[in-house]
Amino acid sequence: MRVAAGPPQDNTMHLLERDGELDALHQLLELSAQGRGRLALVAGEAGVGKTSLVRAFARHARDLADVHIGSCDPLETPQPLGPLLDIASGLSEELNTLLDLGGQRHRVLQTFLASMTQGRLPKIVILEDVHWADEATLDFLRFVGRRVDSVPALVLVTFRDDEVVEQHPLRVVLGDIATSPAVIRIKVASLSLEAVRNLAGNSEIDPSALYRRTAGNPFFVTEVLATGNDGIPETVRDAILARASRLSRSARSVLSAAAVIGPTISPSLLAEVTQADSETVDECLSIGVLAHQRSGFAFRHELGREAILDSIPAHRRVDLHRVVLEALERSGASDDPDGLARLSHHAEGSQNELAVLRYAPAAARRAAALQAHREAVAQYSRALRWARNLDPYEQATLLECYAQECHRIDRLDDAIHAYNEALDIRRRIEDRQGEGRTLSCLASVYSGAGRNSEAELASHEAIQTLETLTPGPELAEAYRVAAHLRMLDRDTANAVAWGRRSIDLARKFDHQPTLIGAQQALGAALLVAGDNVGIKYLQRALDLALEADNDEMAALAYRLLGSGLGEMYEFDQAIPWLEECIRFSSARDNDLHHWYAKAWLALSMVYRGEWSRAAHIANEVIQRPYVSITSLIMALVALGRLRTRRGDPELWPVLDKVLELAQRTDTLQRLAPARAARAEAAWLAGDIESAKRESVANYDLAKAQQHHWFLGELAYWQWKTGVAVDLPDWTAPPFALQIQGDWESAAREWERIGCPYEMARALSESDDEGALRRALGTFSELGAQPMVSIVQRKLRRIGVRNIPRGPRSSTKKHPAGLTPREVEVLNLLSEGLSNAGIADRLFVSLKTVESHVSSVLSKLNVHSRAEAVRHAQEFDSGSPE
Ligand SMILES: Nc1ncnc2c1ncn2[C@@H]1O[C@H](COP(=O)(O)OP(=O)(O)O)[C@@H](O)[C@H]1O
Ligand SMILES: [Mg+2]
Repeated sequence: MRVAAGPPQDNTMHLLERDGELDALHQLLELSAQGRGRLALVAGEAGVGKTSLVRAFARHARDLADVHIGSCDPLETPQPLGPLLDIASGLSEELNTLLDLGGQRHRVLQTFLASMTQGRLPKIVILEDVHWADEATLDFLRFVGRRVDSVPALVLVTFRDDEVVEQHPLRVVLGDIATSPAVIRIKVASLSLEAVRNLAGNSEIDPSALYRRTAGNPFFVTEVLATGNDGIPETVRDAILARASRLSRSARSVLSAAAVIGPTISPSLLAEVTQADSETVDECLSIGVLAHQRSGFAFRHELGREAILDSIPAHRRVDLHRVVLEALERSGASDDPDGLARLSHHAEGSQNELAVLRYAPAAARRAAALQAHREAVAQYSRALRWARNLDPYEQATLLECYAQECHRIDRLDDAIHAYNEALDIRRRIEDRQGEGRTLSCLASVYSGAGRNSEAELASHEAIQTLETLTPGPELAEAYRVAAHLRMLDRDTANAVAWGRRSIDLARKFDHQPTLIGAQQALGAALLVAGDNVGIKYLQRALDLALEADNDEMAALAYRLLGSGLGEMYEFDQAIPWLEECIRFSSARDNDLHHWYAKAWLALSMVYRGEWSRAAHIANEVIQRPYVSITSLIMALVALGRLRTRRGDPELWPVLDKVLELAQRTDTLQRLAPARAARAEAAWLAGDIESAKRESVANYDLAKAQQHHWFLGELAYWQWKTGVAVDLPDWTAPPFALQIQGDWESAAREWERIGCPYEMARALSESDDEGALRRALGTFSELGAQPMVSIVQRKLRRIGVRNIPRGPRSSTKKHPAGLTPREVEVLNLLSEGLSNAGIADRLFVSLKTVESHVSSVLSKLNVHSRAEAVRHAQEFDSGSPE
C-alpha cells in the first residue's frame, strides 16, 4: 500500500552552489565504504534544497553505492515506521517479513543493521523529512545514529531545522546522537544573489528584487520564475497559487484531489477519485506543479501540496476525503495494517464517525505494536473525538487504551484524567470487573506521578472491588500493583504477602506479564529486606521476561538485581548485574534503565574506592540533558559522597539538590541515602548539630521499614554525634559493631565486603597506633583528605611522631601541579565551554569556576584561555577525575 515516497527528482536539473556539500558527502561516502559509516544531518528550511542535494549526490554516487530512499509523511498522524517500510523490501526479505508481523523492535533494528553489511557496495540510506517522523522512526534514527560507525553505510537524514523548536520530539534524538563523531551536520544555505541571477536567466523579472523577496530560497525562486512575468508574489504560497490559477478548471480540480490524496499519488487512485481524462492530468504535469515519480505522481514540493490543500473550501475538502476513503476501501486498503493510518486520516477528514471508529483504534493498535506510542495516543484521541454516540462499555475501553498509551509516553496527567473518566463509566454501568481493572491501572500511574496516597487508595479499592467477584487475572494484577507499591515503600511484610497472592493467581490463570511483575516486586522486596531468596525471584522474573522477548521487563529485572544488591552492600554481586543491565539496555537504547544502572555503578565504585571511575560515570549521568529523577538522585549521591570524602569544595549544592529531589519522591529509598550523605558531610566539616539533624530526620522511617543498611548508617551518624541510639538487633553488622565500639571486627567486616574507606574509618576509631597507621595509609591512597587530617591529628594526640604526610597522589602526577578539579576544568575549556557552561556541567557555582580558571592560568603561566587549551593539548592532561 505504501508507494515509494517523496517528491519527484528532476534528473536534469543543475544544482547551483552545492559543490562544497557534494564534496563533503563524497568524502563521507569514502569513509563509510571503509566500514566507518557516517550519518549526515542535512538541515535547512523548507524549499532550500535538501532533497535536491541528497538526490543529486545519490545520482553521482550511483555506481559507488546502493541507494535506498525513505520519507516521512506530513500527515497529522504519520504512518509508523514509514521510512523503514519504504526501504525494507529493497534491503532484505527478512526485514520485510519482520515489519509485516509488527513488534519485535530489537530484531527489526538488528536486522536492519545487518542488512547494511550485505552486498558488495556500501549503502546510502536517505531518510527524508524526519521533522515529521513518528516515534518509532525517531527511535530507529537514534539506534542507527549510535551504531552507524561500525557498518559500511552513509545515512543521509534531511529535516527542517527551523521547525524543530524547543518541544519538538526530534530534538531529544538529535541531542542523543549529535555527540557521536560519526554524526555530521550539514547546513543547506539559501542561494546567493549571483545564483538567483543565474536562475532568472533571460526572464524579465528583476533578479535583485526576486532575491530580496525570496531571500534566495530556491523553491520560492523557481516557483516565481515558472509563473511568468506578472510581478513577484508576496509569499511562496501566493507564487504557488498564481501558478495553479493558470490551469484549466478541470485541471485545478485534479490538483485539489491530488492534494487531498496525500504526498504520494497513485495514478489509478487519482483517476478513480477525479474521473479525469489523461489530458487533464497531463496539464498539471506540464505546468510542473505535479511531477512523475517512480510509481506515480507527487507535488513538486510539499509546500505546493499544502498551499493547494489550504485553498480548497472546507465542504469541498470533506467531499474529497470521502471519495478518497471510499476508493481506498474499494481497493482493499483496509486489509493492510500499514494503510490504517491513512484510512484513519481520510475517515476523520470526511467526518465519517463510523469510519473513524473503525480505523482510528485499529491504527492506534498497529502504532502501539510498532512502538510508536505517540502516534497511538494521537489515533486513540482521534477516536475519542468521535466517540460521543458509542455505547458506554466501548467508550470506557477506548479511554483506557488511550490512557495506557499516555502512560507509556509519560503523559501522566492525561492518563490519570482518562482513567478516571473510564472509571466513572464503569461504575455507572456497574461493570465491577472493569472498575477493578481500571483502578489497578490508575494506581500505577498515580505512583509513577509521585501521588502516593492516591495510589494507595486506588490500589486498595481495586482489591476490595475485585475480591467480591470470582477471582481472575484482574485480581492477580491488583495484588501485583499492591505488592509493587509496598515494595517501593520498603514495606516488606505486606509486599511479600501481596506478591505471593499475585503469583499464585497469575500462575493459575497463566497470565505472564502479571506473573513476571509480581516476581519482580516480591524479589525486590525480599532482597532489600536482606533476604537473598529475593535474588531467586528476580532471576526467575528475568528468565521469564527474556523468554517472552519482553525487553522492558528484562531490563527492569537486571536493574532491580543490580540496585537491590547495591543497596545491600553486596557489591561483588551487584556490579556484574549493573554492567549486564547497562549492556542489555544500551543495545536496545533503553535509556531509562541504562542511566539508572550507571548511576548505581558510580555509587558502587565510590564504595569500592575506585573514585576516578566513580566520578567519571557519575558525571556522565548528571550531564545528560534528559535523565530521570531517580537516576539523577543516585548519581548525585555518588558525586556528593565523593566530594565529601575527597574534601572537594562545592559539595553542598550537590547535597542540597539531592535532598530536594529525594523529598520530591518521598520514599525511604531516596531519602535515606540523601540524609546519610548529608550527615557524613556535616560531620566531616565539624558541624555536629547538622549531622545530628540529618541522621535523625528519616530514622524512624528506616526503622519502621526495617531497612538494615539505611538504619545502620543513620544510627552510626547519630552515635558519632553523641545521640544515644537504641539499636535494633537486625542492624547491618558492620555499623552495629562500630556503634558497639568493636572497631576491629567492623573493619574486618568492611574489608570482606570490599569497602576500603569504610574499613579505614572503622580503624580510625581505635586508639591503636598500628590500626591508625593502616587507616592513614588507606585514606592517603584513596585521596581522602579530610579523614587523612583527622587520623593525623589523632596520631599526634596519642604521641606518635613521624606521621606520614599523605599527599594527594593525583595532584603530584600533573606536571604543572594542577589539582584533579583543575584538570577537569581545563578539559572542559578545551571542549570550548564557557565558564557558565562549565559551572553547569560540574555542578559548581560560577565563582568557583572563575577561581579554578584563574588558578589554571597562573599554574600554567599563561594569559588566556586559548593558551591554556594549547597547553592542555601538549600535556594531554588525560581524563578528568
Ligand atoms: N542548488 C540549487 N540550485 C538550483 N535550484 C535548486 C537548488 N536547490 C533546490 N533547487 C530548486 O528548489 C526546489 C526545492 O528544493 P528541494 O530540494 O525540494 O527543497 P527541500 O528538500 O529543502 O525542501 C527544487 O525542486 C529545485 O527546483
Ligand atoms: Mg525535501
